Amino acid sequence: MAARRPWLANRPAWWLIFLAQLAPLIYLAWAIPTHQLGYEPVVDSLRFLGDTALYLLLIGLAVTPVQRLWPRAGLIDYRRMAGLYAFFYASLHILLWVIIDRQLDLAAIWEDVVEREHITFGAIAFLLLVPLAITSSRGWMRRLGRRWKMLHRLVYPATALVVLHYFLSVKFDTRTPIILAVLLLLLFLARPITRWLAERGRRSD
Ligand code: HEM
Repeated sequence: MAARRPWLANRPAWWLIFLAQLAPLIYLAWAIPTHQLGYEPVVDSLRFLGDTALYLLLIGLAVTPVQRLWPRAGLIDYRRMAGLYAFFYASLHILLWVIIDRQLDLAAIWEDVVEREHITFGAIAFLLLVPLAITSSRGWMRRLGRRWKMLHRLVYPATALVVLHYFLSVKFDTRTPIILAVLLLLLFLARPITRWLAERGRRSD
């Protein structure tokens, strides 16, 4: 009997998930010209793009544990898509800040990167994400072998730095970044726990 295909490993599901991750950009492209954002559309867009990037990083991190507990979901191919989209939104977040907020003033940009703590952590996080985005293809996976896995574990410190960047950038209500830090810790712990559960399940089959 032929093995049953994982649920989400098909073209319609791929397109649905691809478009769902593009939706925040479509929303922003509609919300800016139609004045749907608040009194400070640049700051609001900056926050929206930053939030989207961070949520996609967390979604990408959730893929492996969910896939281990639910192998028939066929989620694993979407881990790379979420990571690349996270990088895309983080790049737009930074470009908006560099071009509109800082008006391409390189001296002011550098001063912020070295002197404003939350910008420093955001910049380091972004630098960590660059090699991950570059080496995300199957070709790089093959070329780097075991080192690929080690390199891609950098996504945890990168995401932790983004959460810290968020925490330091908010002035009053720090509840959301604290909740996200707890979520990140749970995702980190979920890896060994779900690996153990999956191995136990295989042994008892
Ligand atoms: C050079 C790198 C970066 C710069 C210059 C930068 C800039 C900023 C600025 C200025 C804010 C504060 C906006 C405000 O509330 O006034 C902010 C917030 C934020 N940034 Fe970044 N960022 C950088 C990297 C990143 C990266 C790599 C991510 C995600 C992958 C990210 C995600 C966020 C998030 C989640 C917030 C909080 C948004 C909110 O308050 O809802 N940032 N960033």
